[in-house]
Amino acid sequence: MKDLKAEKSLAAKQAVKLIENNQIIGLGTGSTAYFAVLEIGRLVEDGLKIKAVPTSNATAELAESLHIPLLLMDEVDSIDLTIDGTDEFDADLNLIKGGGGALFREKMVARLSKREIIIADSSKKVEVLGAFKVPVEVVPIALNYANKQIRKINGTAKIREKDGKIFVTDAGNYILDADFGKIKNAEDISEKLNRIEGVVCHGLFIGLAQMVIMADGDETIIFNR
Ligand code: 5RP
Repeated sequence: MKDLKAEKSLAAKQAVKLIENNQIIGLGTGSTAYFAVLEIGRLVEDGLKIKAVPTSNATAELAESLHIPLLLMDEVDSIDLTIDGTDEFDADLNLIKGGGGALFREKMVARLSKREIIIADSSKKVEVLGAFKVPVEVVPIALNYANKQIRKINGTAKIREKDGKIFVTDAGNYILDADFGKIKNAEDISEKLNRIEGVVCHGLFIGLAQMVIMADGDETIIFNR
């Protein structure tokens, strides 16, 4: 049985080696990005000079506890390198992200980044995207409307809940987890979701990742685009 936690940590440590002094770094969200933030914290303690843009309140809190200097996303024009996790990736390095609900800031940070480095354990590589449902962040008053529009593009969606309550994102929105079956036309679905009024963001990350560092057992495999 694979030790996915060890793989997450290994991939994270490999990615952090790419960081250079005086860079602005995007900090991802989730259990894999967690290991990267820990490692960056250790390097900052040892004298690495960076500033970081977190992709969620949870990551900001973790980074603050490690004394990593932070910037708001709106304070930067560009980010040198971002290290983030993923829920799925395919051979073209297209991703489904947002399992942790941080997709909006993760996508904004990815768009601002010169290099978007994705770290993953070996369970995240797929032939075709779509086993993981596509998170769609919607403003609360547009929930039913967005749900109906998703049905029109052959998806079925369920509102995300946590601990028996509707899950609310850092930006105060809701998430519809949309099932499109196997996604052979990710770009098409992405564009259609973008056109739905009330949709703030969705978890299909097309053409945004430059590199995926995936750990498989004791090895790391690098995928470049
Ligand atoms: C959070 C994300 C995460 O990167 C994604 O859910 C992967 O999480 P984990 O590393 O815990 O498997 O997109 O919104």
